[in-house]
Amino acid sequence: MGIIGLGKLGSALGLRLRERGYRVIGSVKTYRSLERASKLGFEVHLDNNLVVDKSDVVFLSVKPYNVAEVAIKTDKPVVSFVAGVPLARISGLSTRPYRAMTNIGLTAIAVSGEYDEGIDNLLKSLAPVVLWVEEKLLDPLTVVLGSGPALVAKLLRAYVEAAVNVGVPWDLAKSIASGLFSTAPQLVERLGYDGVVEAVATPGGTTIRAITRMAGLEGLLATAVEEAVARLIPKS
Ligand SMILES: NC(=O)c1ccc[n+]([C@@H]2O[C@H](COP(=O)([O-])OP(=O)(O)OC[C@H]3O[C@@H](n4cnc5c(N)ncnc54)[C@H](OP(=O)(O)O)[C@@H]3O)[C@@H](O)[C@H]2O)c1
Repeated sequence: MGIIGLGKLGSALGLRLRERGYRVIGSVKTYRSLERASKLGFEVHLDNNLVVDKSDVVFLSVKPYNVAEVAIKTDKPVVSFVAGVPLARISGLSTRPYRAMTNIGLTAIAVSGEYDEGIDNLLKSLAPVVLWVEEKLLDPLTVVLGSGPALVAKLLRAYVEAAVNVGVPWDLAKSIASGLFSTAPQLVERLGYDGVVEAVATPGGTTIRAITRMAGLEGLLATAVEEAVARLIPKS
C-alpha cells in the first residue's frame, strides 16, 4: 500500500496497515520528515511516482495546499483524506478516485466515490466503521469525524477540571472521567438519553441542578462545529 504524505494521519494509516500485514511504502516532501518516517520503519521516498508504481492502492494524506504539487496520474485507486479537496480534483490524479475522511484514532472512515468491494474491505481492515456517503457530507464530517478526537478530548478535559474544582484529586478525576466517557454509549444505547438522565436525577436533587446549569452546552457545541465547517468550505 502506498501513502503520499506520511505525516500525522498518514503515519497512523501506515501503522494500522502494517499491523494488518500490508507492506507500506510512502512519501514525504522533506529530508527531515523522511528521517522521522523511516524511524517508524516505513520505506520512505521523496518521489511520489515511485510510491504509485510500487503500490496497489494509494492513500493521499498531504495538507490541502500541497495537493497541487502531487503530480501523479494513475489508473490505480487513490483514496484522498485531504480536507476540503473535492473528488473532481482527485479524479485529475487517478481514474479511480475516492475522497475519504477519518481521524488520527481511525475510529471510523467515511468515503465517497464509486463503490468497490476491494476498497471497502481494505478500509474495513483499518477502521471498525466504514460509511459510504454522498460527497457533500464530507465537509461536515471533516469537523465531526476528523476533528472529533480533539473536540471530545476538550469535553473530557472540561469534565476532569470540573471534578478537580470540587476537590477531587487529578488522578482520580481523570480515571473517573475516562470511565464515564468510554461507557456512556452503552448506557445510552440501553436506556436512551432521557432514560439515563431520569435514572440518575432525583427531583430536587443534585444531578438535576447540574443538568439545568449545563443548558447552554448543546448550543455552544453546535455553534463551534458550525463555525469550523464554515471555515473549511470556502477553501474547497
Ligand atoms: N491530522 C488529523 O487529525 C487529520 C484528520 C483527518 C484528515 N486529515 C487530513 O490529512 C491531511 C494530512 O494532515 P496531517 O495532520 O497528517 O498533516 P502533516 O502531519 O503535516 O502531514 C502531511 C505530510 O505530507 C507531506 N507532504 C507535503 N507535501 C508533499 C508532497 N508534495 N509530496 C509528498 N508528501 C508531501 C509532508 O511532508 P513534509 O513534512 O516533508 O513536508 C507531511 O509528511 C490533511 O489534508 C488533513 O486535512 C488530518
